[in-house]
Amino acid sequence: MISTATDWIRNAKLIAIMTGAGVSAESGIPAFRGAGGLWRSFRAEDLASPQAFARDPKLVWEWYDWRREIVAKAEPNPAHHAIALLQKARRDCTLITQNVDGLHDRAGSVAILKLHGDIWRMRCTRCAAEWPDRRVPLPSIPPKCQCGGMARPAIVWFGEPLPPGIWSSAESAAETCDVLLVVGTSAVVYPAASLIPSARAAGAKVIEVNPEETPVSGSVDCSLRGSAGAILPELAESILQ
Ligand code: OAD
Repeated sequence: MISTATDWIRNAKLIAIMTGAGVSAESGIPAFRGAGGLWRSFRAEDLASPQAFARDPKLVWEWYDWRREIVAKAEPNPAHHAIALLQKARRDCTLITQNVDGLHDRAGSVAILKLHGDIWRMRCTRCAAEWPDRRVPLPSIPPKCQCGGMARPAIVWFGEPLPPGIWSSAESAAETCDVLLVVGTSAVVYPAASLIPSARAAGAKVIEVNPEETPVSGSVDCSLRGSAGAILPELAESILQ
């Protein structure tokens, strides 16, 4: 199966890669669903929605501060590095991620389409200014903008639209690619998950890398069952040799 996937990627003119929390699992960052997933211990509606933030910004910020601390200690793993290597070798390779942890950036990937935002960026709830902030832990919660307004994480919460420019670039990458490589996502969060059937409908081969079966496993062209940290380096090596 891996040799078929390798051939498809090697022969593709345009490649798109979409990643989810599973690509960072081997860096020690908990995913959202499944055993040990964040949504097993926390309710998304209490922590990752505009309503939750309006009700209790301090609680929401404490949770993000805790996650920032976990992410700050994490290092990119062989899967992040293999993706960065592929992107460097193949300029026609677009990386779309649902992750907010910044590990793809740290591995050297560029022009990343971050569908769900970035945990290292803040946005003012009053003036909408955005800025990077890597302080861990934050010195005061909730953090403030220079204008005095309250800052929120520059992350897409449940019920919020995706950044329109990023979303349309991701849609067009999915609709024009010859191969879509889907890595470490449960493929249940929309609209991100809709890129998978869109790519297939437009004629791309879809390859899934995941140790578990997902709702899209039955409809992809090739399922590589295993961890991203093992499979991605093997794929990259055989593609780039
Ligand atoms: P999930 O936590 O829903 O799914 C993680 C997927 O990674 C599962 O299918 C696992 O089987 C798989 N997985 C686990 N370990 C892996 C490994 N070592 N290698 C490869 N795959 C592995 O995460 P997402 O699909 O990314 O939204 O979740 C989508 C969105 O839901 C997130 O972006 C987040 C969340 O609520 C926001 O923050 C807006």
